[in-house]
Amino acid sequence: MLPIRFSYQNSLKESVGDHGLAKEDFDDRAALEALHCFRARVDRGEVGFPTLPLDSNGAKQIEKFASGLLGDIDAVLLLGIGGSALGPSAIDSAIRGPHPVQQFEKKTPRLFVMDNVDPGYCAAMLSQINPKRVAVCVIAKSGGTAETLSTFMITYEWLTKAIGTKKAQKRIIAVTDAQNGDLLQIAKNERFTTFYIPGNVGGRFSVFTPVGLVPAALCGIDIHKVLRGAREANQYCWSRDLGENLALQSATIHYLLDTRRRKKMEIVFAYSNYLWGAAFWYRQLWAESLGKRLNRKGEVVNTGQTPVVALGVTDQHSQVQLYMEGPHDKMLTFWTVQRHRADMEIPGNKSLAKYESAGYLQNRKLSELFHAEQRATESALTRAGRPSCRWTLPKVDEFHLGMFFQLLEFQTAFTAEFLGVDAFDQPGVELAKKLTNALMGRKGFEEYSPKTQVAS
Ligand code: PA5
Repeated sequence: MLPIRFSYQNSLKESVGDHGLAKEDFDDRAALEALHCFRARVDRGEVGFPTLPLDSNGAKQIEKFASGLLGDIDAVLLLGIGGSALGPSAIDSAIRGPHPVQQFEKKTPRLFVMDNVDPGYCAAMLSQINPKRVAVCVIAKSGGTAETLSTFMITYEWLTKAIGTKKAQKRIIAVTDAQNGDLLQIAKNERFTTFYIPGNVGGRFSVFTPVGLVPAALCGIDIHKVLRGAREANQYCWSRDLGENLALQSATIHYLLDTRRRKKMEIVFAYSNYLWGAAFWYRQLWAESLGKRLNRKGEVVNTGQTPVVALGVTDQHSQVQLYMEGPHDKMLTFWTVQRHRADMEIPGNKSLAKYESAGYLQNRKLSELFHAEQRATESALTRAGRPSCRWTLPKVDEFHLGMFFQLLEFQTAFTAEFLGVDAFDQPGVELAKKLTNALMGRKGFEEYSPKTQVAS
């Protein structure tokens, strides 16, 4: 049995009434067909993410390379955006904690993610990094994304000025497609160490390629454990036993609530600060994979649930009022963790005990309160007829994180099969990239000039 659990009891009619799913909504044959069709795409080599965790040789090479730099660097600067940034960011904050609580030691450098071109932010980030003690990972599958190329050009000059061209070249690692793109050529010409992203793996499914693994290894994270968790998930994700295939179960619930009960938004309610980065990673995975105008037959379908991320318990005091009483257009997915990094006891205090709002809390664990708040929120939403499901991780460590990523990637691929859309393209993103190129005057993109298409 998988150590990660999935529960969908609170998405059923018997729990939430008419907004929930009834027995007759479920169709095991359709679920197995989705599994079969996706398997066929993987077997044809069209989609590569499921087999990535099997490549332990690749991981060994990355680890060897990283161990040569650890000790010489205090910071890893990642230049990349979207699928080329969210995975490494999610691993970093899950394993080492969100940045305000991270501790940096000799062999665990700090990760800086420059995934925006807000000039003030980029300048401030560079000003915090010692160029003599940094490794720079420039990551772009296409090799030509404007944001990444521009931050790369700025960083390359900054680094060269500080430590000279030869040393700078040794400190820059490129992660890109093995066949195409300008970054590949730049990396060759400038003699950067280069790692490759397989052609059949797109950005948001690339967390187990060098995109996720190189920055993680450079930060001192055990990437073999991450891959081991993903490998273990794999065998269950290919199972035709619907009772044990949690990714397929979850895909079924999401698909049915979206299409049969019109739950057009998914609120991902992560009850863990450590999973907050993973929630943002998932938000992209779900949105960009399923948000499609056309299905695979070329018909206009305009599909896709809108993912929203919420942090438990913090957002109970910000969003839950809307989720309880607002429009019936949402489902919720709770992410909960059984064992936390640490626990704290709320101390007994004689002078505070007499206050009603403090007395009952004394000598209780903070974890008790945390779990009670999650259960109470889920239960209140259920009573209000709001369908939800829940993932439970025993703890947030490398192994369970790898497993969870893989389950969610399979869930996304299966849901796309149900919807009949291609989870692995992103024509909407591509168009915006072309329009940016045109606006910035790049040769060859004149036909996309937004001046002629969008009112300014
Ligand atoms: O998932 C995707 O394919 C996209 O979100 C890309 O990751 C994103 O657009 C960045 O692309 P690139 O890695 O080519 O810079």
